[in-house]
This record gives sequence, structure tokens and C-alpha cells, in this order.
Amino acid sequence: MISFSTINVKPLSGYVEAEIDGINLKKISKKQFEEIKIAFGEYGVIFFRNQSLSPQEEITFAEYWGNININRFFSNLEGYPKIALVSKEPNQKKNIGGAWHTDHTYDLEPAMGSNLFAHQVPKNGGDTMFSTMYAAYETLSDGLKDTLKNLYGRHSSRHVFGKSRAERNDDTVGRIINSDLANHDTIHPVIITHPDTGRKAFFVNPTFTLGFQGWSDEVSKSLLQYLYSHATKPEFTCRFKWEEGSVAFWDNRSTWHLAVNDYHGKKRLMHRITIDGTRLT
Ligand code: SIN
Repeated sequence: MISFSTINVKPLSGYVEAEIDGINLKKISKKQFEEIKIAFGEYGVIFFRNQSLSPQEEITFAEYWGNININRFFSNLEGYPKIALVSKEPNQKKNIGGAWHTDHTYDLEPAMGSNLFAHQVPKNGGDTMFSTMYAAYETLSDGLKDTLKNLYGRHSSRHVFGKSRAERNDDTVGRIINSDLANHDTIHPVIITHPDTGRKAFFVNPTFTLGFQGWSDEVSKSLLQYLYSHATKPEFTCRFKWEEGSVAFWDNRSTWHLAVNDYHGKKRLMHRITIDGTRLT
């Protein structure tokens, strides 16, 4: 068990997720940030409650982690192009991020992590679930690990943010933008070595991965389905209940997340700021 001297870290499940208290994100000391980074590496997603940050303070906190990566498909907070809006109005049915995924895997250098700042949340519902791709990988049989270590996944933005979504003309119109820029496909190893922790993790996901390189989508599907159901076993997951002023920062290289869409008729508004990542091997 790691011990911390400048922050209080409360793990929220067996494998993933911790809440950190005793900290004001407007004023973080060097030592506190060092410890926050250690907790982030260990738990994959960290939360803070009762924060009250202006948009500029959200950007300042995000920049502690690295350069901001502007999401080209989400609409932005007016005057703050670095802040993407993740929103759902009472009259809308679809939410953003409602299926298991990790952010920006359609890019050659997928995002390192994402900050989410809760501005308006329903009294009940609208939680976010997380799953750890370390434990998902570590608990596979040796034979399957051996097969996966030589495979690459094909990832795309086209089927999620592209023309076919725009043509559906559903109630994400205005929230999801730039369908013409959804032309990024790329490949990543199915098993990556995390660039900071050195641990191995699964790096395919149900939203952006189309199949394995050299395999058809159809043939890839049965193995991917097995991996997805394994990676979302309850013991690998955790669920966070938001309050206004809650802040999350998750590691896109070692976790998946899913925004639970169970609050129709209520508004939910989050600000998201995503951080640049590196090519994964
Ligand atoms: C996302 O997928 O980035 C949004 C998650 C959430 O709204 O809970």
C-alpha cells in the first residue's frame, strides 16, 4: 500500500479508481502534484469533490498534466476552445460517451488522459463507469496473451463521428460537429506497455476498434466480443456518482469509461479537457 503525506487517497474499488481529498485544485503544491501523479498511475482514474473552478482555472489544472489536445468532434465552451462540452438537455435522448471506450484511439498518438469537470448533474443517475485494462489483461490465460501480443487493432473515428452519424440526424446534432474531419483511422498494438508505469494493458475498445489488422471485421468480432465481456467483468469496474464540483482525471491508456444514460428529462453538463498522448508500443 502506497502512503501519501500531502493528500488523502481513498480507493473506491479493488482495482481501479480513487477519490482524493484534502486538496484545493486552485492551489496545488509541487509535492501534492507529485503525489496526485502517483495516485493516478496506481488507480487509473482519480476524483476530487467540492471544487469550484472557473473555465480558466480548469485549463490551468489540465495543463499540469501536459498539452491540451482539442477534440475536433465536440462543441466547445464559448470563448474557450480548449474546453469541450459533454452535455445532454432534458429533451435529448442520446448522451455522449454512452458505450465503453477510451478517448481518441483513432489518432496515431491517442490522448494520454481526460479531465471531466461536473457543472450540472441530475440528482440521481448520470454516473460514469470505469474499467481497468491492466487487470483485464493480467487475468487472461497465457495462451491468449501469447496470441494477442502479436496483434494490432484497427481504430477509426468514421463510424462514430463521421458522415453516417451526421446522416442519422439524431439529437446529437450540434453537440457532435465536424463530421467531415472523421477520417482518421490508425492501428495500435492490442497489448501496450504503458509509457509511464511499464505495465501491460489491453488497448482495444468497443467504440473505436473495428477489428484486428489483417483480419476481417467479421472474423475479428468474435474474439473482440470475448475480450470486451472479459474486460467489463464487475470486478474490474467501478462507478462514480457525480456532484456539482466533482472533477475526474482518467488515464486513457489503462482504463475504459462509459457514461450511464439513465437520466432522461434532466440536464447534465460537463466540461472535458483532454491531454496529448504519445504513440503507444
Ligand atoms: C466521455 O466519454 O468523455 C464522457 C464521460 C461522461 O460524461 O461521464
